[in-house]
Amino acid sequence: MNEEKSSVIVAENLSLSYKKNEPILQNITLNVKTKDFIFITGKSGSGKSTFLKSLYAALLPREGRLNVCGIELNNISASNKNFLRKHLGVVFQDYKLIDSWTIEKNVMLPLFIAGFSKDVCLSQAHKLLKHVKLLHKADKYPLELSGGEQQRAAVARALAHNPVLILADEPTGNLDDYSSGVIWGLLKGANEQLGTTIVTVTHRIPSLLRVGYRHFIIENGGMDEIC
Ligand SMILES: Nc1ncnc2c1ncn2[C@@H]1O[C@H](COP(=O)(O)OP(=O)(O)O)[C@@H](O)[C@H]1O
Ligand SMILES: [Mg+2]
Repeated sequence: MNEEKSSVIVAENLSLSYKKNEPILQNITLNVKTKDFIFITGKSGSGKSTFLKSLYAALLPREGRLNVCGIELNNISASNKNFLRKHLGVVFQDYKLIDSWTIEKNVMLPLFIAGFSKDVCLSQAHKLLKHVKLLHKADKYPLELSGGEQQRAAVARALAHNPVLILADEPTGNLDDYSSGVIWGLLKGANEQLGTTIVTVTHRIPSLLRVGYRHFIIENGGMDEIC
């Protein structure tokens, strides 16, 4: 019971597939604890994004069990899905910012959803934009920013509501060293100072990060931890 309490992700013999009898991942068993910093690597097409999708309940378990933030994802209800997503911050490789909204409004979105007042949303959004060195561009629209700036805004949005768990899919995939450094620094800061659990897919584990981390590799439909 206690072990389960401090676990943020529990997967037991989890199998994932888009079509029945065509498994992408099979027999995944892992236990991610509060404040873990997890890197997942693997070849293109191996199932890394598929695994992350299952964690934010965009793809439900085909077999086995999956529990994220204390919520069982097998047969999850729509209301529990909303509840789960309030605990999560997700960073996508293609940013997924809302192009018709300013950067500031994009970062405020999860705070609005969490029910904070407009003043709190605004001050928290500004705090996060300052962290990602974008406060001077708060009133710009996503397409007026470079790729690196858009991704930094997306990371600010993912962290704005102080989620329990951050899921990041190649967050620095195509970025320059400066933006990559800002993003890894922010994820490290959330992990160390706020105790946020981080699960991130990356093609290269940043050598300068100096964070204690766990490394999983997805290969041949399975996931193994490198110890
Ligand atoms: N929506 C989908 N429908 C069917 N197959 C998919 C879908 N998304 C991904 N796949 C397949 O699942 C496999 C794993 O994809 P993905 O998880 O995106 O790999 P990675 O992120 O490791 O590059 C690939 O063979 C891919 O073609
Ligand atoms: Mg992917």
